[in-house]
Amino acid sequence: MSLLHLLLLLCLITSTTHAQSNTDFTFNGFQSTNLTLDGDANNNEGIIFLTNRTQLITGHAFYPNPIIFKKSTRESAISFSTSFVFGIIPENPLGGHGISFVIAPQPNLPGALPISYLGIFNTSSINHNDTRHVIAIEFDTVLSPELNDMNDNHVGIDIDSPISVMSMPAGYYLDENDPNPRNLTLISDKSRRVWIEYDGVKKQMNVTIASLEMKKPSKPLLSLYKDLSPYLNQIMYVGFAAATGTIFNRHYLLGWSFKVNGQAKELDLSLLPKTPTNGNKNMEQNKFLIIGMPSILGFVLLITIIAAVIYYVKRKKKFAEEMEDWELDYGPHRFKYKDLYFATNGFSDKQLLGRGGFGQVYRGIIPSSKVEIAVKRMSQDSWQGKREFVAEIVSMGRLRHRNLVQLIGYCRRKKELLLVYEYMPNGSLDKLLYNRQHTLNWSQRFLIIKGVASGLFYLHEGWEQVVIHRDVKASDVLLDSELNGKLGDFGLARLHAHGSDPHTTKVVGTLGYLAPEQMWTRKVTEATDVFSFGAFLLEVACGRRPVAMNEERFILIEWVFRFWLKGLIVNAVDQKIGGEVDFEEVELVMKLGLLCSNMNPMARPTMRQVVEYLERDVVMPELSSFGITISSLTFPHREEINGDLYPSTSTSTGKTTFDTSIMAESDLSGGR
Ligand SMILES: *[C@@H]1O[C@H](CO)[C@@H](O)[C@H](O)[C@H]1NC(C)=O
Ligand SMILES: *[C@@H]1O[C@H](CO)[C@@H](O)[C@H](O)[C@H]1NC(C)=O
Ligand SMILES: *[C@@H]1O[C@H](CO)[C@@H](O)[C@H](O)[C@H]1NC(C)=O
Ligand SMILES: *[C@@H]1O[C@H](CO)[C@@H](O)[C@H](O)[C@H]1NC(C)=O
Repeated sequence: MSLLHLLLLLCLITSTTHAQSNTDFTFNGFQSTNLTLDGDANNNEGIIFLTNRTQLITGHAFYPNPIIFKKSTRESAISFSTSFVFGIIPENPLGGHGISFVIAPQPNLPGALPISYLGIFNTSSINHNDTRHVIAIEFDTVLSPELNDMNDNHVGIDIDSPISVMSMPAGYYLDENDPNPRNLTLISDKSRRVWIEYDGVKKQMNVTIASLEMKKPSKPLLSLYKDLSPYLNQIMYVGFAAATGTIFNRHYLLGWSFKVNGQAKELDLSLLPKTPTNGNKNMEQNKFLIIGMPSILGFVLLITIIAAVIYYVKRKKKFAEEMEDWELDYGPHRFKYKDLYFATNGFSDKQLLGRGGFGQVYRGIIPSSKVEIAVKRMSQDSWQGKREFVAEIVSMGRLRHRNLVQLIGYCRRKKELLLVYEYMPNGSLDKLLYNRQHTLNWSQRFLIIKGVASGLFYLHEGWEQVVIHRDVKASDVLLDSELNGKLGDFGLARLHAHGSDPHTTKVVGTLGYLAPEQMWTRKVTEATDVFSFGAFLLEVACGRRPVAMNEERFILIEWVFRFWLKGLIVNAVDQKIGGEVDFEEVELVMKLGLLCSNMNPMARPTMRQVVEYLERDVVMPELSSFGITISSLTFPHREEINGDLYPSTSTSTGKTTFDTSIMAESDLSGGR
C-alpha cells in the first residue's frame, strides 16, 4: 500500500517537474513548432488543418508540454490568457461542425466523437458531466437542438459538457456602450481572431472574437463569472479540437499565443501564413496525386466523352429526320401542337399541375380518346432549342417499365418542346409524405420504395444503355391510382447538364441527394444514383427531408446515424405514420439507407443488390462489416460499430453553382 503511495507520489513529482508553471509561447504560424497532432489534423506549411475534407472525423492539436493550472489541489486556478487566429473554409455553406480551444487532462481526447460533440465530448458527457474535466470554448457552426444550441453560428463556453454554460451568436461589440453585438460569420473566406482571458482572482472568463484586421474590441462577447478551479486538475494541457459531421468543412489555425499569469502576446499578422482559400492552392504535392491526378484523368475522360457524345449526337441528328415518322412501337408518338393546345384548353392556368425547373406541367385530355395526359412545357432556356436533346429524351421514351412514368409523346415546335406523359392521379410522393391530413402508412411506403428501386434498377441494368437518373428524390416519384411509385423525369437532368455553359459546369441534382464525390469529380455514375436513392429511402421512412435549412439545419442521415449509434434505428421512423408498422422492414429500409449513403462510392450496394435486399432474396450484410475505418476515432461502443460507416449527405461547395431551379418542386405531378 505504502509502496503504491510512494509510486504515485513519484509519478506526480516527475510529471510536475515536467510541467511548466510559467508557460508563455507565441506561434506566428506553425512552421517550426512541434504541436501534438492527432486524428486528421496535419501541419501544412505552417498552417494547422484540424480537419480535411472528410466526413465524421475529429482532429486535435495540443501544446505538447503540460501546464500547471493549480499550485496544489486545494489552491484555486491561476490566471491565463490566450489568443489565436482560426478559420473555417466555406467549402460547404451548411458548415460542419466547429472548432474549439480546449483545456484537457491529456494532450489528446480519447473517445471524443465528431458531429455535435465537436471532437471533445461523447454521448455520456451530456447527461453525466464529464468527470475527466474538459473546458472548451466552442466556435460552433451547426445548430444541435439536443445540446440547446442557439443557432448555427455561435460561441459557447463548455465546462465538462457539450451543453454550453454560456453562449452568444458569434459577433463583436463596437465599444463598451454598444448594446448589441455585430454579427460575424464563422464560416468565411476570412480568418477570425480570438482572445480568451481568465482571471483567477476575479474568477472571470472573457471571450472576444473579431475579424483579423480589427483590433481587439474593448467589450468581450462573453464574460462569465465562474470559478474554474473545481474543473481544472493541477496539470492540464491546452490545444484545439475540431470535428466534421456528414457535412464537412476544413478548420485551420494560423497562429496561437498563450501565457500563464499575464497577457498573451498579440500575434504579428505580418508573420502569419496566408489565409487558405477554398481552392486547392494550399494542397501539398501528394494531395495533387490524390485529387489532381484523378481530375486530369477525369478531364481526359471528359474530352473523350464529349467527342463520343458529338459523334453520337451527329448520328442522332441524321436519325432525327426519320424519327418523325416513327410509330408508337419504336418510340413515343409525335403530337401535333394543335392537339396539345386543345387538350390543355390552350395551356390554361386552370389545367396547371405544377411548375418546376424545366417549365410548367399541364393536365390534359386528348379529345378523341379521352386519355388523360400530363404535358410538360419546357422553358426555352432549359433546352435551348437543341434538337439532339430532343432526340435523346425521345429515345428514352422507348424505356418501358411499370415503375417509370411513361413518356407517350412529344412535340417540337420552333423553340418550344412539349413532352407528353401518362397522367398520375395521385401526384408526387413528397406531397403525400408531408401532408398532415393524409399521410401514407408503412405498407404503402414500402411498396413505393420497392417500386422505385426496381425502376432505378431497370434504368441502370435493364436497358440496352445504362441510364443514370441523376435526380432521384421524393418529388420526382409520382403515384398512380393504386399508389404505385413511378420514377419521373429520367433523362431531363441530363438535358440540364448538356445545356449548361461548359465554362461553369453545373452539378445537377438536389441538395441532400447529391453524392459527395460528385462535388469533386463532377461525374455521375450508378453509385451517385444509389446515394440519392439512400437519401430517398431515409426520407420516405422518416418523413423528413434530407436537409432542412430553415432556422435549424437538419441533416437526416446524421440524425438517423445517431439513432443507429444508440441501437435504436427503428425509432427514427416517421411519427405521423398510422396503422401497423412492420419494424423489421423499417430496420431494413433505414439500414439500407445508411448503406447507400456510404461516403465511399465503391462500398455502396448496386441497385441489383438493393432490389435483392428489399425483396429479401439476399440477407443484407450488417452495417458494421462495411466501409472504411474511421482513422484514430474511438467510438464508445467499438464492438458495436467497429468505427467504419461513413454515412454521408451531400451539399454544394462554395464553388459549385447549384441549379436552383432544379431544386424546386418537381413539375411533373398530377396533384391539385
Ligand atoms: C484526410 O486525412 C486522412 C487521414 O489523415 C486521410 O486518410 C484522408 O485521405 C484525408 N482526406 C483528404 C480528402 O485529404
Ligand atoms: C452538469 O453541468 C451543468 C452545467 O455545467 C449543470 O447545470 C448540471 O446540473 C450538471 N449535471 C450534473 C448531473 O452534474
Ligand atoms: C445577427 O444574427 C442574429 C441571430 O443569428 C439575427 O437574429 C440578426 O438578425 C442578425 N443581425 C444582423 C444585423 O444581421
Ligand atoms: C473582462 O472584460 C471586462 C470588460 O471589458 C473587464 O472589465 C474585465 O477586466 C475583463 N476580465 C478579464 C479576466 O480580462
